[in-house]
Amino acid sequence: MDPANIDDLIGGGAEETCRMSAEGVRETWSTRIGFILAAVGSAVGLGNIWRFPFQVGQEGGAAFMIMYLAFVVLIGFPAMLVEFVVGRKTGLNTVGAIREFAGGAWKYLGGLFVFIGFVILSYYSVVGGWVMRYIVGSATGGYVGPPAADGTPQAAQYFGKIAVGWDALFFHALFMLVVVAIVALGVQRGIELGVKIMVPAIIAIFGVLAVYAFTLSGAAEAYSYYLSPDLGYLLENWQSIVPAAAGQGFFTLSLGMGVMITYASYLSEDENLAIDGGSIVVFNTGISILTGLIVFPILFSADVDPGDPGAGAIFVSVAEALGGIPLGELVGVLFFGTVAIAALSSAISLIEVVVSYAIDEFGVDRLTATAIVGAAIFVLGAPVTYDTVMVDLYDILAAKILLLTGGILLIVLVAWLSADEALEELEKGVGRLGSNGIVWLWVVRVPVLIVLVVSLALGVIEYADFLTGDFAEFLGNL
Ligand code: PFF
Repeated sequence: MDPANIDDLIGGGAEETCRMSAEGVRETWSTRIGFILAAVGSAVGLGNIWRFPFQVGQEGGAAFMIMYLAFVVLIGFPAMLVEFVVGRKTGLNTVGAIREFAGGAWKYLGGLFVFIGFVILSYYSVVGGWVMRYIVGSATGGYVGPPAADGTPQAAQYFGKIAVGWDALFFHALFMLVVVAIVALGVQRGIELGVKIMVPAIIAIFGVLAVYAFTLSGAAEAYSYYLSPDLGYLLENWQSIVPAAAGQGFFTLSLGMGVMITYASYLSEDENLAIDGGSIVVFNTGISILTGLIVFPILFSADVDPGDPGAGAIFVSVAEALGGIPLGELVGVLFFGTVAIAALSSAISLIEVVVSYAIDEFGVDRLTATAIVGAAIFVLGAPVTYDTVMVDLYDILAAKILLLTGGILLIVLVAWLSADEALEELEKGVGRLGSNGIVWLWVVRVPVLIVLVVSLALGVIEYADFLTGDFAEFLGNL
């Protein structure tokens, strides 16, 4: 079926999968792979490529890796199924879905999801803008050159210039404009068609780059830093590694703010949710690992410390390293071009949470909803272009507090308060789950919930430290 033609879908015997919204018939994915790719497209993004390497670098390399992998499989996957169940059962946007699942004060949870979407996309778009800027910078060799008189590498100077101010604001606007243009086209013509091109492109280009990185001189050292965990380090530093791994796990899988609720709401009932969820987790984790296999050999080959630069990681260290390796400009354009594609396919999922809410609840048409929401997010993100410390202000809050809070509340609602409905929904498309469903339920109810609550508490402490430390200092210098 031509994915561009929604009338085919509506008239093509798929009526039972179409649901009503204020706009009329609600769209669905045209194919199963369309849904999986869209969810993978949402999962794979700046979280894997920009955020992941600097979390690995800050949290001790392979020690973090191991914790992160455990989180993704043991916590992320079951938590993803919780969102799928809610989305498919209700066939509604996040706010409507939560309202249908539970009344009373729970309706505010849907509101929290929409709010988180706003916060994340606002700074995500600024970082996405940096990436777009770096495509140009790679082509023109902007970040390659001799260090400044005080020894600051050229890449760091370049990042310092483009990461804040008018440049950053312009590219933030450009990024949001592209996102709005894609989402305004709709679920099938915009999102589904877009990701069908984007996701295979990411995998192909990153595969080539990983092979290239393998040939670099620092590859062996990089692999051992990245892949051989130091358990002593892990035990000593678990208080910072645990919330980092939990936050990264939720962020990278797009959990905790209803993206997967929204995407699963466009899904039909004969879909096996567990297999879909498993494929998404495997794809996404594979791309994170692949990113490490590209980024760390590049860093080690150029003698750059992977723990150094925080939010500037790929922009300072990788860029600096690119200046010192053969074919660096071409690799740079490919690398940042791919990152831009990945960032866009995630950003469209973030904005879709808010847009679908506006369409379903207020009866606004898609174009108007997307344009208004896009403009509001641009405004909220504008302060982030003032100073890079603002990225931490938004990012720690989002990943280590808001997403975990959203995830915890949703699990309480679904796995504790609506368990029968949840199990029944999970069974659709799978046949009888037997004891597997019960195992899932109890895993989510107890260990997942405990780990998330502990991570959240540690995250709150870390954020308080940040606010009274680095951020207070920044405000003091204004
Ligand atoms: N998963 C995306 C990434 O790793 O870049 C970011 C993201 C998308 C986070 C959607 C949260 C979300 F709800």
